[in-house]
Amino acid sequence: MAKLFEPLTIKNITLKNRIVMSPMCMFSVKKEDGLVTPFHITHYESRAVGGTGLVMIEATAIEPRGRIQPTDLGIWSDEHIDGLHTLTDRIHAHGAHAAIQLGHAGNKAKTTDTPIAPSSEEPAITAMTPTMIDQLIDQFKVAAIRARKAGFDIIELHAAHGYLLNQFLSPLSNKRTDLYGGTKENRYRIVQQVIDAVKSVFHGPIFVRISADEYHEDGNTAEDFIYFSQEMKDQGVDLIDVSTGGLVNAAINVFPGYQVSHAEMIKQGANILTGAVGMITEAKHAEEILNNNRADLIFIGRELLRNPYWPRAASEALDVNIDAPTAYKRGWT
Ligand code: FNR
Repeated sequence: MAKLFEPLTIKNITLKNRIVMSPMCMFSVKKEDGLVTPFHITHYESRAVGGTGLVMIEATAIEPRGRIQPTDLGIWSDEHIDGLHTLTDRIHAHGAHAAIQLGHAGNKAKTTDTPIAPSSEEPAITAMTPTMIDQLIDQFKVAAIRARKAGFDIIELHAAHGYLLNQFLSPLSNKRTDLYGGTKENRYRIVQQVIDAVKSVFHGPIFVRISADEYHEDGNTAEDFIYFSQEMKDQGVDLIDVSTGGLVNAAINVFPGYQVSHAEMIKQGANILTGAVGMITEAKHAEEILNNNRADLIFIGRELLRNPYWPRAASEALDVNIDAPTAYKRGWT
């Protein structure tokens, strides 16, 4: 049996295969109100019909000024729960599990005149006070309660790509001199508190997406990322979704599997499950990554935008029969 189609049990959840739809903002909210639209339902449901084991909803903002774009999904109010619940129902109807990525864009937000950041030398960007930090942790917690009520199986925290939590982790963007800045222990503190807050109200698996390479000589080192990942593991995080970059402008050498070595580094260094992402488009490439123990889940981004039925094509490439609507099965098509 191809490993890509082997189930994986994480805590109380058994994913039917190792294919994850990577979180991708669709910029498709209609009235800048964060609400799910018919497009989102069709978009995510069709990836579940296509055979993806875990469908992860795009970065969803825990407060309005945390949106990357005004057309991002939101989870900052109880009004968002119903639409999100429709999404999880539709995903579950096809035997897939549903995850949501909770995020805050910090000073990369394009939605507000007063973006927030750990520290700032620019008057237009507000450096967060300790009270604002407490509020942010609470917003993540309330968002996790709403995610639970909306039926999500898994929560992923977005601490990558230069957004707010990433801005705290990195010495390049965090110049605070209080308990939340300076040493790596201090830079990690807000992520630690967000994880604890989310865990106190959400009992399913928790993933964290990190950027495990800042492509800058003064940025976090491999040792720093392993330290963060070990701390997350000790706190009960189940999987690190390993991406890279996004904090500072850098020329990144992009090629198929360009971030797999980072997933492998975290997996070996922190002894925790990892997800690999980044230009993985071939079933046999996914098999190589899984069988060589370089990662445990394969996150597919743009290839699933191009082809919602990618898992079906992958099952044929690997000669595996997967559960499918009768007329989709091999022999019929
Ligand atoms: C993304 N990506 C992304 N990442 C993330 O953590 N949260 C998000 O909301 C988004 N949004 C997003 C939108 C769009 C249109 C794209 C193309 C990408 C990054 C994505 O999840 C993935 O990590 C990268 O696209 C690399 O994987 P692929 O596309 O090469 O498989």
